[in-house]
Amino acid sequence: MRIIAGTARGLRLSAVPEGVRPTSDRVREAIFNSLGQFFDGGEVLDLYAGTGALGIEALSRGFAQATFVEKNARAAHTIRENLKHAGFAKEGKLLREDAVEAVDRLISSGRKFRLIFADPPYKIAPREIGGVLERLEALLAPGGRVVVESGGTPVEATNMKGVSRSYGGTIITFLERSESTMNIAICPGSFDPITAGHLDVIKRAAGIFDHVVVAVGRNLRKGPKLTAEERTRLIEKVMAPLENVSVEVMEGLLTEFARERGARVVVKGLRAISDFESEFEQAQLNRTLCPEVETVFIMAAAEHSFLSSSAVREIASYGGDVGGLVPEEILDVVQRLYDTGGQAAVSDKG
Ligand code: PNS
Repeated sequence: MRIIAGTARGLRLSAVPEGVRPTSDRVREAIFNSLGQFFDGGEVLDLYAGTGALGIEALSRGFAQATFVEKNARAAHTIRENLKHAGFAKEGKLLREDAVEAVDRLISSGRKFRLIFADPPYKIAPREIGGVLERLEALLAPGGRVVVESGGTPVEATNMKGVSRSYGGTIITFLERSESTMNIAICPGSFDPITAGHLDVIKRAAGIFDHVVVAVGRNLRKGPKLTAEERTRLIEKVMAPLENVSVEVMEGLLTEFARERGARVVVKGLRAISDFESEFEQAQLNRTLCPEVETVFIMAAAEHSFLSSSAVREIASYGGDVGGLVPEEILDVVQRLYDTGGQAAVSDKG
């Protein structure tokens, strides 16, 4: 068994413990061909992980984090070895427990995954998968998919739509939320830091759309003061009470990010006419790249029309009070993180 593509391409995986039936390289390749070859961050869950080949292949192809669930002690040892060998010891987390219990726990801790693999032993498949499959929907991030491997018959879930394919006796079922009816919007930005104006626009978008994904740009034209992860953590704190809002780092193009999450709308806030030119340019470029994603503008509330992240950075850099300009929950942290004693006061308008 080898990793087929990505950064760990060609890597031979450690021997399979007895009694564990690995997904063949051919089937693994077919699965990833169907899913889309490469990925840009996100979390994957590998249930009944066996050797961990599916989750490691996902890491190799660009996923940021993988959680492996495996009860069998020898298989768990193999996963650890394989992760270490592939250089993913940090990106992979192993839960040595029963898949049903692990799923319950992950649901109660609010975790969301873009991809979930479930490859249970064929002989227990109908009963055990029956118990766990419907619950996996609660673990899916917007646009996420569940991939189930089964023996004779395809699996079905009443709360997800699916398509099954047969690869020489192995049935693979791809399931996703019935999201074609769900309206997902992306609110992208630098958020360096998130302001009261951003929060207002995101809240209003969350009132219109079923789900809003706040996309925190990592690679920005202007160098942000905080890392994408730091900015994301601040936003998560602010968004905690909003049930239909999630926050993710955006690595590449906005249009790709939207497409991968099944979003048809990008929402941006417009403050004054001065915002229009650059927003117009971005909307037109994004429309050229991906015509099926529409950009929708929400007018900033009048009291926020003067407010920008760069103004917050500048005031905070001199130790000035940014109370009322940023959400209350993060005021102290913003005040501390952006206070540079007046060094490198900012000049851009973001
Ligand atoms: O808060 P900002 O600075 O207006 O946010 C800018 C952001 C992150 C929305 C923009 O830079 C972006 O979409 N970046 C992703 C890269 C991309 O898709 N570029 C092409 C669109 S012009």
